Amino acid sequence: MKPKIVALLGSPLPEGNTSKILKKAIEGAKKAGCEVIMVDVPSLELSSCREMYYCREQKTCIMEDDMGPMYPLLKSMDGLIIATPVMTMGVPGHLKSFIDRCQVFYCAKYERKDSLIPKEKRKTRKTLLISISGMNLPNNFDGIKITMQAFCDILDCSLADELLIRDMDNKIDLDRYPDLMKEAFEKGFNLGTTIEKSLNQR
Ligand SMILES: Cc1cc2nc3c(=O)[nH]c(=O)nc-3n(C[C@H](O)[C@H](O)[C@H](O)COP(=O)(O)O)c2cc1C
Repeated sequence: MKPKIVALLGSPLPEGNTSKILKKAIEGAKKAGCEVIMVDVPSLELSSCREMYYCREQKTCIMEDDMGPMYPLLKSMDGLIIATPVMTMGVPGHLKSFIDRCQVFYCAKYERKDSLIPKEKRKTRKTLLISISGMNLPNNFDGIKITMQAFCDILDCSLADELLIRDMDNKIDLDRYPDLMKEAFEKGFNLGTTIEKSLNQR
């Protein structure tokens, strides 16, 4: 069976730069033999976490919305690609709500000490983070990185690689930067081959 990678798009623009670069990374992962399921996060109907803490006792969330099918998907995947623009020095709101709703995984892993991720998958799951920012400041990605590190820990899907592109306000269109598109393809390909290899060694 092909390794399954979930690709989360955090930008609200389906044809924007984040989307373009994510699609290149997806091409790479597919070339490496993976099945890739892309999730357009801003188009999901989902509420932010209301801290009802049903997930302290149960393996899912009590709120019924588009997050429902995301839990089995995030449990069963072999790898993750997250592509997001920087907004107000951090993760865009809708993607942040998606991440917060993964408290389901946090409670299982850290409170009940019983991760929802099958034991054999915990060591092999890997994440590629892609992020782009308008400005060119030294701390542009600090907020994104600290949130994504926590998200990857919660999901038992280690943060293995990243592609961080700054200064998009001046670059404007990533199509004008074939080297960056090629790098995205290669990083997607590398993620796919690394996961495939570790699955075969299991
Ligand atoms: C609401 C909002 C907040 C933003 N905040 C930042 C920011 O704090 N730092 C930054 O470098 N760029 C910021 N940007 C710029 C985006 O990161 C940049 O335009 C990015 O290329 C958007 O990618 P997309 O067109 O694929 O969505 C912001 C853009 C928006 C719309």
